[in-house]
Amino acid sequence: MPGPAADVSAEPLVARDLRKVYTTRGSPSVEALSGVSLEVRSRERVALLGRNGAGKTTFLKIASTLLRPTSGTIEIFGHDADRNPDRARPLIAVVPQEGKPFFHLTPREQIYTYLRTRGLSREVAQTRTATALDQMGLVEVQDRLAITLSGGQRQRTMVATVIATHAPLLFLDEPTIGMDPFARRAVWAALRELTRLGSTMLLTTHYLDEADALSDRLYIVERGRVLMEGTAEELKRSVGGTLKVTIAGQTQHVDLFRSFGTVMTDGTSLTVIVQPDSLGELMAIAVRERLTTTVGPVTLEEAFMRAVGRSINEDE
Ligand SMILES: Nc1ncnc2c1ncn2[C@@H]1O[C@H](COP(=O)(O)OP(=O)(O)OP(=O)(O)O)[C@@H](O)[C@H]1O
Ligand SMILES: [Mg+2]
Repeated sequence: MPGPAADVSAEPLVARDLRKVYTTRGSPSVEALSGVSLEVRSRERVALLGRNGAGKTTFLKIASTLLRPTSGTIEIFGHDADRNPDRARPLIAVVPQEGKPFFHLTPREQIYTYLRTRGLSREVAQTRTATALDQMGLVEVQDRLAITLSGGQRQRTMVATVIATHAPLLFLDEPTIGMDPFARRAVWAALRELTRLGSTMLLTTHYLDEADALSDRLYIVERGRVLMEGTAEELKRSVGGTLKVTIAGQTQHVDLFRSFGTVMTDGTSLTVIVQPDSLGELMAIAVRERLTTTVGPVTLEEAFMRAVGRSINEDE
């Protein structure tokens, strides 16, 4: 059965200049979003990356109609999420950050009941429940009360519930937090399958390998603003090289390698970002100085650290 009708001519999500100021009596106000504009196109998987407190959850809460923006607009398949939340809600499903399944329900009951409240027939709800339990490796625990499940099993139940909806637009706030490497990959496979069936998704994650494996496009958010947008490959290219050379136990050699490209240090080792054609020269110096080096491809982690690190330095 197809999901609720989505106006296919409208973009799944368009946010324009979204601002959110939290005001709590007795506390200073917090500007969590300072004018965010972004789009998610049909059948895309888009990741929002950013440090703790950057504004990712605030954005997802506004997009999923749980919170009202201070100003700006956000449209879900052409429906204004703030003015017409009832039109937007049937088209979305959400894995909230730190969400928990109902403790007095089993995974099977939780998923089935949720699908029934979304208006799916008994037959469809039953089939989808069984499939989602299987996809998320929950068959063994499907009839146990959620209160008896491990943390990772509870998180799998949350994801299974949302996957089973086949909603046209999914919001997933750190969906794989606390999951083992097998479970994370099961989530990736299930989300890719949903894309194939026609769903669109916006997710957040602090696992940059996950963002790389899963998303077609990424936005890096910093202090309530979009800092960068692009594919993982584009963001990696922005680092200025395709290889990273890690030099163990050396932080005093920064000057020796600065001419090769960006040099980063984490206090115990040096990382130099280089183009392949200057690798030979760099390695010759490393051998001469008897330094232990490892060479690998640049990852999204370097792109993220560099983009956000620069922004922090500029503000200081
Ligand atoms: N209910 C609230 N009242 C006041 N301030 C809030 C509230 N919720 C979030 N904030 C603040 O808004 C900012 C953005 O928070 P948000 O939860 O959106 O960040 P995040 O990017 O999701 O971070 P994390 O990676 O830690 O989940 C932070 O400074 C946070 O302290
Ligand atoms: Mg968050």
